[in-house]
Amino acid sequence: MEKHVQILLNKISYASITIATVVLLGLIIQTPSTCVDPTAPDHPTSKRASQTLFPTSTCDYTHRAFTSLEKKNRRLWSSKMWIHAVDSYKALFSTFQAQTRSHLFNHSRALVVSAGPGQAVMALREMGVADVTGVEVVDSPPLVSRADPHNLPFFDDVFDFGFSGYLDRALFPIRYVEEMERTVKIGGICVVAVEECGDEEVREIVKFFRKSRFLNARNVSLAGEERTAIVMRVQK
Ligand SMILES: *[C@@H]1O[C@H](CO)[C@@H](O)[C@H](O)[C@H]1NC(C)=O
Ligand SMILES: *[C@@H]1O[C@H](CO)[C@@H](O)[C@H](O)[C@H]1NC(C)=O
Repeated sequence: MEKHVQILLNKISYASITIATVVLLGLIIQTPSTCVDPTAPDHPTSKRASQTLFPTSTCDYTHRAFTSLEKKNRRLWSSKMWIHAVDSYKALFSTFQAQTRSHLFNHSRALVVSAGPGQAVMALREMGVADVTGVEVVDSPPLVSRADPHNLPFFDDVFDFGFSGYLDRALFPIRYVEEMERTVKIGGICVVAVEECGDEEVREIVKFFRKSRFLNARNVSLAGEERTAIVMRVQK
């Protein structure tokens, strides 16, 4: 009797193992329906998938990236906030064009660090500066590429004009400034904006620049914030 029960139990567990294995194999082999090529013309989700902003699943690999990015940018760039921000950067940059000893020409190579989604990059381009590079820890194509501001992926002395609207948010401001000074050539200028401050704070920030000479500081309104822009000439 004992033995009979034992055999029965064994049979049951063998059966369970077999069922579990079959189910597992089935799961591995079977393609989930969400992974079916959404570009297939008769696939029910193909239309919807191409219109949503976010992937509907991890297998959603539609080619919507380009078109929706274009659409997203068009929407962003026509927003009031964006236009207002671009105009505020233009107002600041135009002061560097207007001066008799101009710092910023159409043929200048300009760098924008901590460029965010790229308002300052767009401002410089719209002003006629042909070669503008924007970097940020998160990229925003086509205006801004991804790069660490503390370790810029550029050679020494390649830019005529370096700008950062957010030096005060840098993790390591000294290193951040060093990188701007390294990549901007002698005679070029670095402009950094920080939260609005007085002369004493300006002097503290100027100390970060070991290879530049202080030119001036002024209060400006940038992207809706009152900030102080500090202008330095690189001399190494
Ligand atoms: C610079 O570019 C702008 C915009 O394209 C243009 O209006 C301006 O005349 C150019 N300036 C010079 C000096 O070529
Ligand atoms: C900016 O404005 C603040 C407040 O009005 C003032 O205390 C400060 O001196 C100004 N800074 C500069 C550089 O003009």
